[in-house]
Amino acid sequence: MSLLLGRNVFGNPANNGKLLSEEEANELFHAWVLNPRLQLHMKQVAYLMKCWAAEKENLNEENIRKWEMAGLLHDADWDQWPDQHCKKIIEELENRNVDPEVLHAIASHGHLHFGVEPETQMDKMLYAFDELSGLIHAYSLMRPNGYEGMDLKGVKKRLKEKTFSANVSRDDINDACTRANIQLDDLINFIIPRQATVV
Ligand SMILES: [Fe+2]
Ligand SMILES: [Fe+2]
Repeated sequence: MSLLLGRNVFGNPANNGKLLSEEEANELFHAWVLNPRLQLHMKQVAYLMKCWAAEKENLNEENIRKWEMAGLLHDADWDQWPDQHCKKIIEELENRNVDPEVLHAIASHGHLHFGVEPETQMDKMLYAFDELSGLIHAYSLMRPNGYEGMDLKGVKKRLKEKTFSANVSRDDINDACTRANIQLDDLINFIIPRQATVV
């Protein structure tokens, strides 16, 4: 089964800056994503994107919302229509006149699957957070106190264990860091305390 999108241009440039309202985004999120684990993953990635946009990129309110929305909706179709991931959510957001940058970020969050390269910093950070966030969360679930006391060393150890969260591609994580021009250690240290607050 191929998830290749077969195109590289998404949305209409006339929709620059147009986003769903918070209410609309939440409504879509809850209608499409029924699995609580996937909901949590998407909320975690949304929060990481929001924090990174604000703290590291110093973006304005509107752009912070853009990053957050890409994170919140990137896997929206994965629960009910995995064979149409991420084609279906992109088409839905295109029909709703959402900013092309949000669509491109969603389309490139798995370039090996969808055939769309991450280009902007938002694309690259979504790609980077996606896999690493999942591995760190899986690690929290096997620790007696969850995120409490979790550190860089522990996460790096899990990364080295090929059997731990074996579906999380270590190559993708390294590739994402290189593309985003950030150090893996910095990214892990950024994620741990922030993700710990998303429940
Ligand atoms: Fe995905
Ligand atoms: Fe994801």
